[in-house]
This record gives sequence, C-alpha cells and structure tokens, in this order.
Amino acid sequence: MRPIRTAYIVLSAALLVGAVSADQAIAESAKPAQSAQAANGANGANGAKGAKGAKVAASPIYGVTIPEGYRKWQVIAPAEEGAPLDELRVVLGNPAAVKAIENSTLPYPDGAMFVKLAYKRKQSPDFESATVPGQPTTVQVMVKDSRRYASSGGWGYGRFINGQPADLAQHQTCFACHAARVKDRDYVFTHYAP
Ligand code: HEC
Repeated sequence: MRPIRTAYIVLSAALLVGAVSADQAIAESAKPAQSAQAANGANGANGAKGAKGAKVAASPIYGVTIPEGYRKWQVIAPAEEGAPLDELRVVLGNPAAVKAIENSTLPYPDGAMFVKLAYKRKQSPDFESATVPGQPTTVQVMVKDSRRYASSGGWGYGRFINGQPADLAQHQTCFACHAARVKDRDYVFTHYAP
C-alpha cells in the first residue's frame, strides 16, 4: 500500500540522516508510556505528535504508537512463553476489541486495539511457589485500520522497549507470523480467557 511504503521510506531516511538522535531517544524513553499518547487513529507515520504537540515515538513501517490509557483496558488473557524468553504476558484490549470478542465479530472493526505486555518471570519474594512479573521487556501493539493497513491484513504493528520502538527488522516479522498461524481469526492469536 502506497502510504505505508512512503512512510517507510521517510522513516528510514530519517533514521539514516540521524534525525532521531540518541539524546532524543533517551529523552523519550524517560517519559512514562502515557506520554506516548498521540494515539492511534491519528498515529501519523511521519513523526507522530502527541496531544500536546510532544514528539511521540512511532514504530517503523506502521507508524504505530503506544495507545493512551492502555493500562486501564480490559484483560483478554494472560500467556506464558517458555525458554529462551521465559516471559509472563498479558494481553489487553480496548473497548472496541472487547466488544468484538464478546459478540464474536470477525473481522475486528477499525479502531480495535490490542496491547501485549511482557515481563521476565520472577519468584515472588513473599511466597516461594509464586511467580510474579519481573522486569518489563516489551509492549506490543496491534491497531486495526483496514484502509491504512490494507497490505498487512488491516493491522498496524508496534513493538516497544522502554517506550522506544524496536528496529525495522523486528517489525518485518510481525505480520508474517500472525498471518501464518491465525489469519482465519483476523490475525489475532489470543482467545478470551474464561
Ligand atoms: C513468531 C511468531 C510471532 C511474531 C514474529 C510476532 N508475534 Fe505477536 N503474537 C504471537 C503469539 C503466539 C501471540 C499470542 C500471545 C502470546 O503467546 O504471547 C501474539 C500476540 C500478539 C499480540 C496480542 C494480540 C494477539 O494476536 O493475540 C500483539 C499485540 C502482538 N502479538 C504484536 C506483535 C508485534 C507488534 C510483532 C512484531 C514486532 C509480533 N507480534 C510478532 C506470535 C508472534
């Protein structure tokens, strides 16, 4: 799809000329995830601006940012990843995603979003047999916009580490894996946990 390709070229060019400086990256990562508002829907691929005009880090290829207020979304399901990652995860959905799941609506409507939070496993300091979230590793985002993301099944992807988008190579893997396994569920792995 043309806009995505253009955005991709613009972004790569920006990275090449060092438009996104290391200082900026550090400054961005020091902000709480919340400041990565700008949000979706309006997730400009060409250097998204937050509600207050602050620069928000957007993922390569897709221009997805960490959605505002995602921490208060509903839990869809927890997940656990074995070695070598050894992570605890929790998938959250915004109200549009939750409603679609409850009504078994496929494909998901535009505006539906999922966020997956991942943590290293940690033994509870309070109770021997309990495992609790340790260090956070990634925040991953899927945003449905069937027109903007027509060439990737209608979903835009973003993976963030300390609030900063992961590199281009990582973003080239998202759609392929989701498409190979769960295309028939509109590219979404997670089922609503009972
Ligand atoms: C090799 C396969 C694979 C790749 C590559 C992959 N994912 Fe996923 N993704 C999964 C699996 C499996 C789940 C289900 C939850 C879990 O087990 O962690 C998932 C779940 C998700 C979810 C929660 C919604 C859902 O589909 O369940 C989001 C958001 C997500 N991935 C984003 C991304 C992003 C962003 C990228 C690329 C940076 C990516 N994924 C790359 C396998 C993959």
